[in-house]
Amino acid sequence: MTSTEEIRKALATVIDPELRRSIVELDMVRSIEVGDNGVIDVTVSLTTPGCPIRGHFQRAVTDAVLRLDGASHCNVYFDVLSDAQKAALQQKLGRASLPEGTLAQVANILCVGSGKGGVGKSTLTANLAAALMAEGKRVGVLDADVWGYSIPRMYGLGSTRPPVSPERKIIPLGAHGVSVMSIGFFVEEDAAVVWRGPMLHKALTQFLQDVDWGELDYLLIDLPPGTGDVSMTLAQLLPQAQFLIVTTPQPTAQKVARRAAQMAHKVSLEIAGVIENMCAFQTPSGERFAIFGEGGGEELARELDVPLLGRVPLTMPLREHADGGRPLVLEEPEDPAAQAIAHIARGVIAMAPLPLATLPLVEVSAGAAPPAAPPSPAERKPAGMSLPMA
Ligand SMILES: Nc1ncnc2c1ncn2[C@@H]1O[C@H](COP(=O)(O)OP(=O)(O)OP(=O)(O)O)[C@@H](O)[C@H]1O
Ligand SMILES: [Mg+2]
Repeated sequence: MTSTEEIRKALATVIDPELRRSIVELDMVRSIEVGDNGVIDVTVSLTTPGCPIRGHFQRAVTDAVLRLDGASHCNVYFDVLSDAQKAALQQKLGRASLPEGTLAQVANILCVGSGKGGVGKSTLTANLAAALMAEGKRVGVLDADVWGYSIPRMYGLGSTRPPVSPERKIIPLGAHGVSVMSIGFFVEEDAAVVWRGPMLHKALTQFLQDVDWGELDYLLIDLPPGTGDVSMTLAQLLPQAQFLIVTTPQPTAQKVARRAAQMAHKVSLEIAGVIENMCAFQTPSGERFAIFGEGGGEELARELDVPLLGRVPLTMPLREHADGGRPLVLEEPEDPAAQAIAHIARGVIAMAPLPLATLPLVEVSAGAAPPAAPPSPAERKPAGMSLPMA
């Protein structure tokens, strides 16, 4: 007969994919009951009733329990953590978290970072997002480079202000099939944004919390260069995010990129892989020029023990279309850089850990009350005003 202690030990292998810790360590196992004939009942406490990863717990708990000798059947029940338990959990995790439900409909978050500037993070973010969209995924891009935002230009978006929904959420602008949010939509063209510290933290929180991202398969976050405030804040707010590290091929760039990797490790963000950008330039006659050297991405990937997701060559059309506001992958899919990026997108899809759980549909009966009238435009302001967007 299996003991409760053995079952608890087995459940330590069930990881909450958002908090990235075991459900035992997180005190989420509410009860374990061993019944007749090896039937085991486990109740797991969730942080929110509509938790989209419920299905994950259902499967993982059942698998863990049924691996034990003597276990014949496992029933998994759910309840919700009390406010006091949630507060205790938050304290245990020691992090300022986003409110519940924020980004609950976003299956995968990928932060695109590098140790130094100008290696092509924004160009790759814009194109990778478009390539994922072309593969049939629902994709959003958050331009978290508040000081040097470039995503609006790369998507041909001016400084149009995004609309605000009746629920007072900011609606991302759509461009090339991708939902886009950037500080560039809220400030005068080329105006300097000088936020630091708490102000910056608040603005980034608002980008995640008060933007109606809706259901997304991927949210790509374009980070500013380096390992500074923005990256640390996002890492803290998004423990479930993964990191893509962009490097150029020369060994010195790779040393700098290693610092970004160290930062990701320090804040326990998983590194999904390395992308080597600005690899050899090939002339139409077939001559190759390794302008930035060769092999840096491969070496970094080996050192970090993560996959090298792709090597994107230097091509003129990639730069031209980025400047022209249209992703190369959609404009010239046969270009070698576009092909490399499409390949990376397929690699990213192949390793996606979390399919978005299907949320139950709410039936609206014919006699239901009509929806409340939308608020007047004056009322339609986003909640928690820290961005200059009113
Ligand atoms: N593979 C490539 N081939 C040709 N041009 C490229 C390539 N990758 C990036 N570029 C160009 O290099 C310049 C810098 O790229 P980008 O702005 O994407 O870098 P970044 O890492 O986001 O920079 P920052 O650190 O300033 O945010 C841009 O003009 C872009 O069009
Ligand atoms: Mg950039």
